Amino acid sequence: MNHHHHEEPPPDSANDTGWSESDGQWPMRPVDRLIYASLSRVDRSVLDEMRRIRDHAVRNNGPDGLRVGLMHMNGHFIEWIEGPGPAIDALMARVSRDPRHHGLQVIHRSTGQARLKRPWIGAIVQAIEPPSLFAARVHTWRLRHEAGQVYEPAHVWMNVCSPPAPDMPRAGEGAERVMLLSARLAWAFDLLRWLAGVSSRRLVQRRYAASADDVPDVASDYLDLPDLGPGGMRLIAHARRGLTMGVAHALMPAHGAVVLILDGDAEANVRLVQKVLDVCNQTQHVPTIIGVGPHDSVTAELADRVQANGHAWIGVRSPLARPDVSDLWAVLEPVLDQFAGQASG
Ligand SMILES: Cc1cc2nc3c(=O)[nH]c(=O)nc-3n(C[C@H](O)[C@H](O)[C@H](O)COP(=O)(O)O)c2cc1C
Repeated sequence: MNHHHHEEPPPDSANDTGWSESDGQWPMRPVDRLIYASLSRVDRSVLDEMRRIRDHAVRNNGPDGLRVGLMHMNGHFIEWIEGPGPAIDALMARVSRDPRHHGLQVIHRSTGQARLKRPWIGAIVQAIEPPSLFAARVHTWRLRHEAGQVYEPAHVWMNVCSPPAPDMPRAGEGAERVMLLSARLAWAFDLLRWLAGVSSRRLVQRRYAASADDVPDVASDYLDLPDLGPGGMRLIAHARRGLTMGVAHALMPAHGAVVLILDGDAEANVRLVQKVLDVCNQTQHVPTIIGVGPHDSVTAELADRVQANGHAWIGVRSPLARPDVSDLWAVLEPVLDQFAGQASG
């Protein structure tokens, strides 16, 4: 294991990414949405090539009313495009002639709610599996698309880029998705790593190299737990600064709950809660918010703040003053199990 400790930087200033928190409102009118995947021909310096693509995309997409998320992973490109239909067709005509990739397959097209908030978001994920496995999923989803089966683009994106573990109930369809964030340090990542160890399950660690200058690299790990709740659960750890960026933002509505690992630092707790509430507000999503931490960290002030924004709040107190990850899990697990049961019932 190479990254054994994910140090997040100290409590982030409201906007250290340069991503304005207020430009995140989605258009309310329905937009056209398309997702394609292709085989990358880029072998050396993917980052340089992504930056060249970025330069074209920021010049063209904004004026054309397009917003895209482009990811390079496992030898493939996958691009999620939103905007006016004719502009999408024009972009697809250009992109399909681009020699930097081949074998382009459209795996989704529909009209509906916009999810992406910028003309261009790019990310490079370190390979986590052989390209052939990724290609097989692309093929499956292309067949579904061609058979006229309609899904939300977020659903297609998640299933292609981060498929459920093979032993998840009902092929992962009923799984509850729960986001994990920590007010300080990297507790969310530490908890998942510990949990993967004690359960002997595979932790999927993703490193996103951001291909815009104003966006830092971030990590996001996830772990599938088939026995939690009736349909299993995916726990996804995000860095605080990763939350407002890229597709993490677009995928917020897929989460039934957000777990906040609180800290002795009350100000850091409030900052995190407010950040999550802002993103939920931008994405018009109202997940249950679960605060877990040392006894004193789970305050009425946090509960009030969360509930005032229309969210259900569950405070989970460890009896210990300095709980470690196993102590936190001991109090959190039954709450998550019950939450998943209620959510699906
Ligand atoms: C995987 C991939 C994704 C791309 N995405 C975009 C995009 O979102 N917008 C865009 O204008 N060009 C994109 N391009 C670049 C286009 O293929 C083409 O080079 C560019 O649009 C030409 O731009 P120009 O008219 O500024 O020369 C992409 C290229 C690749 C290989």
